[in-house]
Amino acid sequence: MKKITKIIAFAAAAAMLTACFTGCGKKGKTLAQVKSAGELVIATSPDFPPFEELNNGNVEGIEIDILNIICEKLGVKLKIEQMDFDSVLPGVQAAKYDVGVSGITITPDREKNTLFTDSYCLAEQSIVVTENSPIKAKADLDGKKISVQSGTTAEEFCGKQGYALSSFQANSDAQTALTTGKVDAWVIDNLTAIEMVAAYNAENDSKLVILDEAMTTEPYAFACCFGSEDLVAEINKVLADLVKDGTVKEIFERYDAPYVSPTENN
Ligand code: ARG
Repeated sequence: MKKITKIIAFAAAAAMLTACFTGCGKKGKTLAQVKSAGELVIATSPDFPPFEELNNGNVEGIEIDILNIICEKLGVKLKIEQMDFDSVLPGVQAAKYDVGVSGITITPDREKNTLFTDSYCLAEQSIVVTENSPIKAKADLDGKKISVQSGTTAEEFCGKQGYALSSFQANSDAQTALTTGKVDAWVIDNLTAIEMVAAYNAENDSKLVILDEAMTTEPYAFACCFGSEDLVAEINKVLADLVKDGTVKEIFERYDAPYVSPTENN
């Protein structure tokens, strides 16, 4: 191949690769398309109380309550598709679902191939250990084994810190890795940690403890595919009203969850 042909071939391959990273050309639905479909299809991993969890086979939680109001305002039905967390964002990015609803944190990396709504609350990563653990703070994690859920910000953050990780598709398995002594600590978003630790402690003699020191700040939002810009703008309008008039806070209170508004720390 002549040099110039090689350069052209390389440029074409690079362009194709870039297109694939941004969703292989798939576009998210517009607001009009969602309205004419009559439903908003959400992707969720219902292993994340109090945001989404299974109750007698139904997906329930803070985010489902918020989405129900959004759907009511859009005049469409809510359709829930369940999957593991590590399939939520890839599915949304490939426009298989309209909105990812899974306690999803906005990160600069994810923003490259995901269209996020505005954030509606702040959370953080917590460190969970067994009650007699020598780990009392983040500094004690060096050289320790940590369990996390696959595809989460906990996995990304702890990986960057160089900790030895065990990743699990189900949150409950990440918890079991800790309670069965396979890892030294479990890193997970704080509000889910509070719920899952309370549920475990209520049923077991051995207890789990959430350390005071938090690891990161996590602005939660809903995730869409590029192409859905006007849908996201409409969702943002509804969300802004719900945050402003106290509805979001009220929904958190319904689940006994402390609410931190996205502007609280600014
Ligand atoms: N906030 C974290 C993230 O965005 C964890 C979300 C996990 N969600 C779930 N439904 N299991 O990565």
